Amino acid sequence: MRAIAGTDQLSVVTLPDPEPGPHEVVIDVVAAGINRADLLQRRGLYPPPPGAVDTLGLEVSGRISAVGEHVAAWAVGDEVCALLAGGGYAEKVAVPAVQVLPKPGPVDLVSAAALPEVACTVASNLLDTAHLRSGELLLIHGGSSGIGTHAIQVAHALGARVAVTARTQKKLERCHELGADILIDYSTTDFVHVVSGSGGADVILDIMGGAYLARNIDALRTGGRLVIIGMQGGTKAELSIAKLLTKRAAVFGTTLRARPVEGPGSKAEVVATTRHVTWPLIEDGEVIPIVDATYPLAEADAAQAHLEGGDAIGKVLLTMQ
Ligand SMILES: NC(=O)c1ccc[n+]([C@@H]2O[C@H](COP(=O)([O-])OP(=O)(O)OC[C@H]3O[C@@H](n4cnc5c(N)ncnc54)[C@H](OP(=O)(O)O)[C@@H]3O)[C@@H](O)[C@H]2O)c1
Repeated sequence: MRAIAGTDQLSVVTLPDPEPGPHEVVIDVVAAGINRADLLQRRGLYPPPPGAVDTLGLEVSGRISAVGEHVAAWAVGDEVCALLAGGGYAEKVAVPAVQVLPKPGPVDLVSAAALPEVACTVASNLLDTAHLRSGELLLIHGGSSGIGTHAIQVAHALGARVAVTARTQKKLERCHELGADILIDYSTTDFVHVVSGSGGADVILDIMGGAYLARNIDALRTGGRLVIIGMQGGTKAELSIAKLLTKRAAVFGTTLRARPVEGPGSKAEVVATTRHVTWPLIEDGEVIPIVDATYPLAEADAAQAHLEGGDAIGKVLLTMQ
């Protein structure tokens, strides 16, 4: 599935089957996750990193159908899911072996496609970057998003208290079922007021960027960590350094897709952390994939429109068969 250059159109195209490089596997794709970044890529606003295929899709589930000559960790027939730099809306995809994760036992193979992007984003940001600890208060903006619904469950399982923002009562109720304690309808209520009333946030996982920067700093408690992973509210804002210093606070920004495959800060490291921290929680049933809707590949346009429409709670998936 390719975005046609210079247009906003998607089209199914026939391409040669991928061959695995020496350190890669080929996955026969069963399902692919749709991400907000795909909506930007189709409009030419989020080009793939150098060397990545230009077909859409940042995560898949499926069965391994070929392994490269230096790959020992995986075998043909293994049921897996994987984090990609692109190319997931397809029947087959080649991916570095270090970006592959085993399908968790309790999760069906289609739903496993909902996991790689959210699990890797949440584990790397909450643990490696923000060092979230048990008993701390985490504020998650967009609690009902794909990222949010997963982050609530992981943070709750790790013993953190969770506050979320969302736009409707239905979304907030779902966040509560998943483990959020403090529910804030951002369309009617000031999140700074609510979170400050609970002592302030130790960690904020933010997807709004510029629009929320000043208020996020206000909502942090002393020693708080703000991790910005999205720019839905713009890329620029004024930062009060005086408030940052007074609170001894930190502001981080991270992205997953642009990380190198291996080495310091790589996708390999993120996948290893995720497998170590999050996969046992999924195996135990403490964290489950949250899938709002599933569409066949031929209806990728409708599937993306569903995500963009803003009513989804959790992930939207594409299936290949
Ligand atoms: N940096 C990274 O590595 C990385 C990786 C993955 C995703 N992301 C980013 O994370 C974000 C979520 O991704 P996703 O795929 O989970 O997206 P998604 O499911 O489409 O969710 C987008 C969310 O934005 C929320 N939202 C919109 N305006 C808001 C506001 N003013 N205040 C609070 N929430 C608001 C929506 O909630 P309401 O309907 O309640 O408004 C919705 O839940 C995106 O910005 C994406 O680019 C970053």
